[in-house]
Amino acid sequence: MELGTYQNYIGGEWTNGFAKETFDVVNPATEQVVATVPNATPEDMQAAIDKAAAVQDEWADTLAGDRARILREAAVKMRAEADRLARIMTMEEGKPLAEARGEVNYAASFLDWFAEEATRVYGDTIPSSSPDKRLLVIKRPVGVTAAITPWNFPAAMITRKLGPALAAGCTMIIKPSELTPLSALELARILEEVGLPKGVLSVLVGTDAPALAKVIMDDIRVRKVSFTGSTEVGKILMRQAADTVKRVSMELGGHAPFLVFADADLEAAVANAVSCKMRGMGETCVSANRIYVQRPIYEEFVQKLAERMGSMRVGNGLEDGVIVGPLIEPAAIEKVKRHVADAVAKGARLVVGGEAKPAPGWFYTPTVLADVNHSMLITKEETFGPVAAVLPFDTEEEAVRYANDTPYGLAAYYFTRDVGRVFRLAERLQYGILGANDGIPSTAQAPFGGVKESGVGREGSKYGIAEYLDIKYVSLGGILS
Ligand code: SIN
Repeated sequence: MELGTYQNYIGGEWTNGFAKETFDVVNPATEQVVATVPNATPEDMQAAIDKAAAVQDEWADTLAGDRARILREAAVKMRAEADRLARIMTMEEGKPLAEARGEVNYAASFLDWFAEEATRVYGDTIPSSSPDKRLLVIKRPVGVTAAITPWNFPAAMITRKLGPALAAGCTMIIKPSELTPLSALELARILEEVGLPKGVLSVLVGTDAPALAKVIMDDIRVRKVSFTGSTEVGKILMRQAADTVKRVSMELGGHAPFLVFADADLEAAVANAVSCKMRGMGETCVSANRIYVQRPIYEEFVQKLAERMGSMRVGNGLEDGVIVGPLIEPAAIEKVKRHVADAVAKGARLVVGGEAKPAPGWFYTPTVLADVNHSMLITKEETFGPVAAVLPFDTEEEAVRYANDTPYGLAAYYFTRDVGRVFRLAERLQYGILGANDGIPSTAQAPFGGVKESGVGREGSKYGIAEYLDIKYVSLGGILS
């Protein structure tokens, strides 16, 4: 199925804008073209910012309840169209249909959540040190914002940024990944259909990401940028943001440890390791990258994990029964192959998987590597693929040391029945998200974000909207005159 030709959504118009050429969106399961999109230019980005800046004050002054209605109706429409949106997502990104449907719901949940938050942006009054003064705090939208979003969650990583931006009264320009632009453009259509005023949102897609991002970063009118992607690109954007002192939210790379203690519920730990590792074919920032298992249950864990991973059906996500889709592009397969080859060469045991499937499509079989050690690449770089690397450990102290020995600090998981350990590790593991006996902690009402080189800021939850609000202090004098 061909989805046809899309247009960019710039300043409230569906247009080819200044684009002189188009580019193809390719299905990673078939390598066939599924749609064609105009290749947005820096001039298009400038036009989108101009329009956002022109309508910013008006949008900031709308009633919170009206902004909430738009978000709520968009969520309802997304759910009503879930089957279609999921098919589009599977065709551009590869994740199996059931998972794509799950992502559509996950994405809609951020719109619902921030519809509620829109109406709860409270200020403060502060006791004054002068009888003649009253001190007030009010909150106002930061202004024009921009989001640069990744391909691995083509809808949810947009609504997790757009929801709070719109709720707070900010306009937003979105530059989605050129690998998965269709879900983003469909979202823009939905928001337009539920009455989002023209210019408040632009979605434009182009293959020259650095050139498009530069327009955003150089423009002083853009007051905040939210980015999900690699730590390397995040650092470049943070440096660029310094020139106009923009606020930034950075949701960057991770290298999640997954600790399984001998007192854990073994079946639950294995099942959660599989769902955590294999969500999105392992292409998430919160995937378990290093699975540490305490020595007494090590071999049993490895065997049970291999049984489950080895029985997962791999194929085109549009087909019934498929639970593992393709990776996003050939380079992703190459990285997985490199990590597996390096680990095996350095003594890891290939328990199951370890094969790239022949073309068409960029498929890699779910893989378990046991007896991994810290000299191997897989313990240092994000694999972003379906490879579970398992390592033994002896003591809690050793497990915490291994877990924290990384520049990343996004998500960590641990499985134990010891309630004291649950609290100790929550405090000692240097991560922003902790799954204690939980392999899938992400949800709209909880704060998502990392520490160390995994980023700054939080998305989702009551904290997420604060990233789009400026605090203003009003000192009101002359009360007694
Ligand atoms: C990500 O991998 O970037 C996001 C994952 C999530 O929302 O759970």
